[in-house]
Amino acid sequence: MIETTYENLLIIYYSGTGNSKRVSEWIVQEAQHNGLKTHISSYHEFNPDKIADFKGKTLIGFFSATHGFNMPHSMLKFLFRFKMLKGSDIFIGNTRAGMKLSKLFLPGLSGIAMYIPALIMLIKGYIIKAMYPVDLPSNWISLHPGIRRKVVDSMVEHYEKLTKRFATKVLSGKRVFFKSFVLLPLDILVAPIAIGYYFVGRFILAKTFIANYNCTNCGLCMEQCPTQSIILEHNRPYWKFTCESCMKCMNFCPERAIETAHSMVFLLLFILIAMINPYLSAKVTDMVALLFNSSKIAFESFYFVVQWSVALLVFYTGYKLLHYLMRFPWINKIITYTTLTTWKFWRRYKIPTKMSEHTKIV
Ligand SMILES: Cc1cc2nc3c(=O)[nH]c(=O)nc-3n(C[C@H](O)[C@H](O)[C@H](O)COP(=O)(O)O)c2cc1C
Ligand code: SF4
Ligand code: SF4
Repeated sequence: MIETTYENLLIIYYSGTGNSKRVSEWIVQEAQHNGLKTHISSYHEFNPDKIADFKGKTLIGFFSATHGFNMPHSMLKFLFRFKMLKGSDIFIGNTRAGMKLSKLFLPGLSGIAMYIPALIMLIKGYIIKAMYPVDLPSNWISLHPGIRRKVVDSMVEHYEKLTKRFATKVLSGKRVFFKSFVLLPLDILVAPIAIGYYFVGRFILAKTFIANYNCTNCGLCMEQCPTQSIILEHNRPYWKFTCESCMKCMNFCPERAIETAHSMVFLLLFILIAMINPYLSAKVTDMVALLFNSSKIAFESFYFVVQWSVALLVFYTGYKLLHYLMRFPWINKIITYTTLTTWKFWRRYKIPTKMSEHTKIV
């Protein structure tokens, strides 16, 4: 048993495929083992008014997946709304895309995924006791096949031990920051990418999911999406811009019907890069010459805004068209067989569990 001044532990998590939920459960287990009252909830199920129920000194932890070197938008929004509980402390954690090479456990990269939330909570008046990343297997299966089960198991076992060690420290009131600052130079380097992802990238990715001909319209993906981003349009699941690519739907669809439309992505990127961007560049050059005396900074800024706005428009229109065309079985088959995610070797991912496999991930 550890000596602690805390009476309660509250953990709120954002988790698509279960990694962050699992880490939160490990910390809760450790707290229960040490006699604390515990409460654990997904951010979208947590009632902010509930915070008033916590009597006594409370440690509050936020654990989230990392998306584009940042905390996902809806979790950030949640933190903005989070009410102050006087006398409580905070810790912030993220799970990120770890890998394992032979016997070596390699870290993912947090970017600004913990600094921004820490700043928000500091401004609200909270004391930050810890920032801690956990490098569980990457769940980004739009980019790569899910990691092999044997490797996943060994990573989970490894990080369970480390997380429980972290939990003992933070629960006993110690400050834990070292691991979050080890990659600081790289975190700073990728900060512009994090901003680009936040303002443009995530919206483009939202328009890459499709349901193939195996979809039975069971409605499970719509029901379970934490951001309510899947709707039925013309009797087929349709992904809205609010999708945060948490990968929950794609990994949990019982028919394995959800794909990343790789061929559509390549085609749209080709149209943008080879056909639309050179035209835009020429137009912006003419406009800047006329209005700003060919200033380089004016060109770069205008071109950046125009290029990405057009990219969003192209993906929106391309996706709408594809969604319409997928009602024709032969087009559906072409799209399905030209995405890598349809093939057997492209494994899906969800954290294998003793604890959560039998419970619905919320
Ligand atoms: C769209 C997307 C973006 C991601 N970006 C990052 C990233 O910037 N850095 C990183 O280390 N991992 C990144 N990952 C990997 C996840 O953060 C990681 O696998 C996490 O553990 C998933 O947690 P969850 O199962 O709780 O959702 C990304 C995953 C997705 C799907
Ligand atoms: S969960 Fe899969 S099968 Fe069910 S509606 Fe969604 S895509 Fe279709
Ligand atoms: S649509 Fe799928 S990937 Fe997007 S937020 Fe919802 S569950 Fe996550």
